[in-house]
Amino acid sequence: MRTPIAAANWKMNFGPRQAEQFIAAIREPLGAVSGAEVVLFPPFISLDSAYRAIQGTAIGLGAQNLSEHPGGAFTGETSAIMVAELCRWVIAGHSERRQYYGETDELVRQKTLAALSADLSPIVCVGERLEDREANLAERVITTQIRGSLGGLPAEAIGRVVVAYEPVWAIGTGRAATRQDAEDIAQLIRALVGEQYGQGIADALRILYGGSVTAANVTEFVASPHLDGALVGTASLRPEFVDIARAIAAAKTA
Ligand code: 13P
Repeated sequence: MRTPIAAANWKMNFGPRQAEQFIAAIREPLGAVSGAEVVLFPPFISLDSAYRAIQGTAIGLGAQNLSEHPGGAFTGETSAIMVAELCRWVIAGHSERRQYYGETDELVRQKTLAALSADLSPIVCVGERLEDREANLAERVITTQIRGSLGGLPAEAIGRVVVAYEPVWAIGTGRAATRQDAEDIAQLIRALVGEQYGQGIADALRILYGGSVTAANVTEFVASPHLDGALVGTASLRPEFVDIARAIAAAKTA
């Protein structure tokens, strides 16, 4: 059985003080959610205060990005080893990084490798743009992203990789994908990972949906046997995230 995941990507929101206050407000009910892994992804500058604020709870912590390099003269960057001092998790290849910072599949693959070598669990994001979907190219784009981002990873570490399917047109738009679309792509992702790493790895792979997830629609997604949780943006900045995490746990323990 795959343990479901409720992941909160705060993006560029909540500095250290706000992070501390927000976690203080939700840590009791959020920490009480059982049956799902709950992970917060604050901005880098807020990781330390978030780390302190979650002490004594089962809430996990992750960074939103990492460097592909192990260390050295890379101003403004953060290595996997540094992330691993505070976190068990990291996001690699979010569509905003791909879109605004030119991250390619090969760079995402290198970041995923770096994360795995530091014993982090990477959430690798893939997703097509609106024009891809309208041109019926969604499956082709996802296939290229999965093959490019997840190729050549060490077999013994691949079990720590989580994939998030986040269609770009659904992110921050209030227009979530349909359950059917998300399921179809999740099945494609599992098949592609199966081709690369074998059926056992594919069956154990956790696949999340992201894109305008709310407490009102999350159950629709996670009721699917093909989806193992959600990567939540906007709604993760509100106490509503507690309801989302509860709904994810409930759908998988029902
Ligand atoms: P929204 O939930 O705001 O659509 O963001 C989704 C996302 O990008 C999470 O990584």
